[in-house]
Amino acid sequence: MTIPVLTIDGPSGAGKGTVSRAVAKKLGWNYLDSGSIYRSLAIAVLQQAVDLEDETAVVNVAQAMALDFDCHDELVVRLDGEDITAQLGLESTGNTASIVAALPEVRHVLLQKQKDFKRLPGLVADGRDMGTVVFSDAEYKVFLTASAAERAGRRYKQLKEKGIDANLSRITNEIEERDRRDRERKTAPLAMASDARYIDSSDMTINAVIDEVLNLIR
Ligand code: C5P
Repeated sequence: MTIPVLTIDGPSGAGKGTVSRAVAKKLGWNYLDSGSIYRSLAIAVLQQAVDLEDETAVVNVAQAMALDFDCHDELVVRLDGEDITAQLGLESTGNTASIVAALPEVRHVLLQKQKDFKRLPGLVADGRDMGTVVFSDAEYKVFLTASAAERAGRRYKQLKEKGIDANLSRITNEIEERDRRDRERKTAPLAMASDARYIDSSDMTINAVIDEVLNLIR
């Protein structure tokens, strides 16, 4: 029996997480937040003070880390038994994640962990290379984007709402830097799959995006 897969790729802050979670919930499918795997590795590497340029050392951490994803209402992630959920969303975690994610051997080691999420009745997979590499044979593919200014503005609002001090121009610079790194890396760069539906959410409400994605499947 084939297991349907919907991939949602795109740059940071395009709304992939919100849209993927909502669509997965609506369809009753499993959900893979692949960014959180790279983020977990970033936390492990920072905790162990590993040199980010030492690919062998980073790969060893990736191989050894035991990750447990509890995806019921909210995502809870445990790294070697420790709840790291609160650290996952930090900007510093995302920036370090994009540095370790550029290492080819790291991506290779984490491939199977991601493929294991493909289970019945279906999977919504969100990331950068879901439609191009990890699930290149997926039946449904979306490339979700928005202008850099819009994405930075959304991120700024999110942080403010959580009571976290934020600086719009710094966030804009960090988002642009992270996108550049994700697009320009040699292995599995952020790119649209040729068979993906392109959605620019800059002037769309989140519900309109969710509807467009659901229409693709129905
Ligand atoms: O999506 P999120 O912001 O959580 O991803 C954090 C970082 O992990 C990204 O900037 C990217 O470098 C990396 N990533 C990746 N491939 C994926 C998902 C995330 O390289 N499929």
